[in-house]
Amino acid sequence: MPGSKLIVALDFASLSETDSFLKKIKGADCKVKIGKELFTTEGPRVIDLIKKYNFEIFLDLKFHDIPNTVNKAIKASCSHGVWMVNVHAAGGKSMLDAAYDAIAESNHKPLLIAVTMLTSFDEDNFYNLGFKKGLNDQIIHLSLLAKESNLDGVVCSAKDIASISSIIKDESFLFVTPGIRLKENNTNDQKRINTPAEAIKNGSDYIVVGRPITENNNPFEVITKINAQI
Ligand code: C5P
Repeated sequence: MPGSKLIVALDFASLSETDSFLKKIKGADCKVKIGKELFTTEGPRVIDLIKKYNFEIFLDLKFHDIPNTVNKAIKASCSHGVWMVNVHAAGGKSMLDAAYDAIAESNHKPLLIAVTMLTSFDEDNFYNLGFKKGLNDQIIHLSLLAKESNLDGVVCSAKDIASISSIIKDESFLFVTPGIRLKENNTNDQKRINTPAEAIKNGSDYIVVGRPITENNNPFEVITKINAQI
């Protein structure tokens, strides 16, 4: 599908639930994201299913392991012909370099993005992790690590973009932002949220939206509405 900045999170439990949903959004202008639940349950056949609907795929498995393991996992991801893959920046420079090398050595080259801090973290639960820096400084630190390893961008809250781009002055560095809610939605477990329009205004290149679309009876309509707002 051409152009859309909207990535719909397919957080479903099975292939059949995913297929029912994809039927409802067939032809919509968006990309889709496969997360841990669906991929762990159904494996690569979910990728084959989505390809039949012609949506570009973000394989959101957030790898975080020793460099060699992440290198192999990214190579395996590349072999599925997906559009975007990701790792946790907290895996460190060697792991990020190994992820980058995996893409460089693969025939198919998806965008490689690093998760900074999950958008389910706020200052309170962040301090429980024992980091010495503040949340914002930690996000900038992790973004710089990703940039140094030549990754294509980061996953962060749209609220973090201004401070990251004040340090990383590279227009091609991508910001992928979950934690998106429409005005009428519940926040669920997300803490640092923005509306679609706010996120794009803040400089987001792609917004990730799950439950506000997947839990709606007319997801096609919500996608159209969000596309109009961004
Ligand atoms: O339903 P909701 O819109 O909260 O879904 C957000 C999606 O984005 C989920 O699939 C979640 O795993 C993912 N995500 C996130 N925060 C990150 C990275 C990914 O919420 N930092």
